[in-house]
Amino acid sequence: LSGVKPTSVLHIGNYFGAIRQFIALQEGNDAAYFVADLHALNQVRDAVELRAFARGVALDFLALGVDPEESILYRQSDLPEAVELEWILATVTPMGLLQRSHAYKAALAEGARPDLGLFAYPVLMAADILIHSADLVPVGQDQKQHIEVTRDIAVKFNETHGEVLKLPEPYVLQYVAIVPGTDGRKMSKAYNNGIHMFAPEKALRKEVMRIVTDSTPVESPKDPDSSNAFAIWSLFANEEEQREMVERFRKGGLGYGEVKQEILARALAYFGPARARREELERDPDYLEDVLREGARRARERAAPLMEAVREAAGVGVPRK
Ligand code: ADP
Ligand code: TRP
Repeated sequence: LSGVKPTSVLHIGNYFGAIRQFIALQEGNDAAYFVADLHALNQVRDAVELRAFARGVALDFLALGVDPEESILYRQSDLPEAVELEWILATVTPMGLLQRSHAYKAALAEGARPDLGLFAYPVLMAADILIHSADLVPVGQDQKQHIEVTRDIAVKFNETHGEVLKLPEPYVLQYVAIVPGTDGRKMSKAYNNGIHMFAPEKALRKEVMRIVTDSTPVESPKDPDSSNAFAIWSLFANEEEQREMVERFRKGGLGYGEVKQEILARALAYFGPARARREELERDPDYLEDVLREGARRARERAAPLMEAVREAAGVGVPRK
């Protein structure tokens, strides 16, 4: 089980850090993926914009290979039971646990409003996960703490009301911990340093050309380890190719312009099939809504027994006979 917040258009950091695993994990697993529009409400306050982003992320999922026959794909707000569970979990969640959240502190440091929604973000995330009794939650490194919080909340619930909730494991891809952005910081929609796999080719070229490099002349040796151009290029190269590129950097004679051209060519080739598929999907808006409706139906069906057990354990709702 995993989700992505539709607060913007997805970038290659989201793909390599998260969505790629979603696709790989479909096989041999009973997977569910969702568009976290309720979480996005913390940041996006324009209804038209939020719908467009949510639709966009769902299309990205499908274009990149989430198979709705194989996995459940749904919109978070179409599973309202998760919000009910959030409240029940909130009643056993210590404030201190949330006050220690890196994501909350980081958001405040960047000037976010300290709304209850922002503070309670991990509780809804816990509900998203626990409502499916998920075993594995594939997320990027920055989301690991949220999985730990989810486990802590589940333990509190189980201690208070009895063993109902299953503790999930995070699943972090170690070898692409963090994808750097064009400015060398973590690629993030918040920093405007993204490379967007579904941008029109011209825009994509612009983004790639914005990758910041040092001023080492073409003929001089360069350090691949401190170069974000190298790091980004490596996402599209196998180990053998990476070794060769390391040598070309160290030898000198390789210009950063050439590396950027290669990044563009490789990104277009790598995402070519997904780009074509997305264009096709965009022409059929009804198909997307059908997929999401069916996904929500399956998610609600799957959540129903757990919710019944939770209500029973907590003593709310219609009692079991
Ligand atoms: P952003 O930082 O752009 O706001 P999100 O926080 O919405 O991205 O992240 C969505 C998913 O993509 C999460 O699982 C996150 O860990 C992953 N992710 C985001 N940025 C990166 C990155 N630069 N490198 C690796 N994974 C990332
Ligand atoms: N917090 C995640 C992010 O920012 C999105 C998310 C919400 C999520 N609920 C989740 C991820 C449940 C995994 C499981 O990327």
